[in-house]
Amino acid sequence: LLIQPFQLAWATGALSHGPLIRKTTLLGDLSAIFTDGDATQLFPDRPAYAVDMFDTPGGEGELYVGVTHLYPGKVGDEYFMTRGHFHQRREQGEVYFGLQGEGLLLMQNQQGQAWTEPVFAGSVHIIPGYTAHRLINTGSQTLSALAVWPSTAGHDYTSLPHGFALRVIEKAGKVRIMAVKHG
Ligand code: PA5
Ligand code: NI
Repeated sequence: LLIQPFQLAWATGALSHGPLIRKTTLLGDLSAIFTDGDATQLFPDRPAYAVDMFDTPGGEGELYVGVTHLYPGKVGDEYFMTRGHFHQRREQGEVYFGLQGEGLLLMQNQQGQAWTEPVFAGSVHIIPGYTAHRLINTGSQTLSALAVWPSTAGHDYTSLPHGFALRVIEKAGKVRIMAVKHG
């Protein structure tokens, strides 16, 4: 009895040898998250990121495995980023593994404190429970990261009414992490 495993090409994040699901998010879907949201409507059909997942059973105690490919680019001076979310089951964490490219993992707790970790090939990020998370591509190549999370975690995209407390922009050719002021 020998069952062939799924496979991941570590250098690129390409998944194979099993049924896959791909979800592509377009720039036009993301107008609400960028400071210059209107600028997303200049290229609404341009893919911002794709998430590939092994199509495996969910349920209490099960894990999902997926790879996010976040493309390089900026909206105004703000780097491409994922929508970002808390888990619906707030206590459930997640692990991200950097595969290729350069970027940041932005995290924010329920008290509104936010911080970043650099993402690169070989980086490992343990996202605690009760912590919202977003990937940001600060490089010129695709940023790819493997994620493993409880299948019951769910995505809550609505519970950051003011968005994240940090924004990542390019200024004078450099990556700048800026605190957002809410008035
Ligand atoms: O499970 C995760 O946290 C990731 O697979 C994300 O869902 C993925 O990076 C896409 O981001 P978002 O769900 O915020 O659009
Ligand atoms: Ni998540």
